[in-house]
Amino acid sequence: MHAPLLNPSLLAGDHANLAASVRAVEDLKLPWLHCDIMDGHFVPNLSFGPETLAALRRAGSKLFFDTHLMLAEPHRYIEPFAKAGANLISIHIEPAYDHAATLARIRALGCQCGLVLNPGTPAGAIERLVSLVDLVLVMTVQPGFGGQPFRRDMLPKLQQIDSWRRDRGLKFRLEVDGGIDFATAAECRAAGADTFVAGTSFFKAADKPAFAAAFANL
Ligand code: DX5
Ligand code: ZN
Repeated sequence: MHAPLLNPSLLAGDHANLAASVRAVEDLKLPWLHCDIMDGHFVPNLSFGPETLAALRRAGSKLFFDTHLMLAEPHRYIEPFAKAGANLISIHIEPAYDHAATLARIRALGCQCGLVLNPGTPAGAIERLVSLVDLVLVMTVQPGFGGQPFRRDMLPKLQQIDSWRRDRGLKFRLEVDGGIDFATAAECRAAGADTFVAGTSFFKAADKPAFAAAFANL
């Protein structure tokens, strides 16, 4: 089992000073940063694009950019995000495109790859592809906005995917995203999750070192 990893979501950072939000993560020696990319089609919101990632790289960030594409046509945007400095690119299973070919292209460009499921999508939708990925992301809210309540009904889905991982000897990370704080992360950890995206709870935490230390001991 992977050690628990707290993965702050830049979406909840200060969009007028993203560099400072990134520094808050780096100061804690957390290795990952979750970057939410929204297109106003697949989700009813817009966030930022590859230029933002590239600018954070130019500003010196060495964080592992865990890039969550919430796009109707993710296969059209793999190259720009790989070039911009993404380390891992996750694509949703819901839109119709060649998922396996897109995962292969992500890898060919030197990035790790992941698959994402919306709350309404059953685990079975990705079963045939789990051997191809470095990460499976189970959304614990309907994607589009930070600050929504955690969906406890996603726990059985985590258990199902974790059992495939164990039975098949696979090593992918199992990530959760949406409404994650220490209490909901603990429930997800018990169901097999190891990678915890936290937006609102991280950036609102008054004592970030204590917040990060709690996650390290999940
Ligand atoms: C939701 C995004 C999340 C979001 C989580 O559409 O995918 O990454 O930033 O935010 P919180 O942690 O506030 O629920
Ligand atoms: Zn996300």
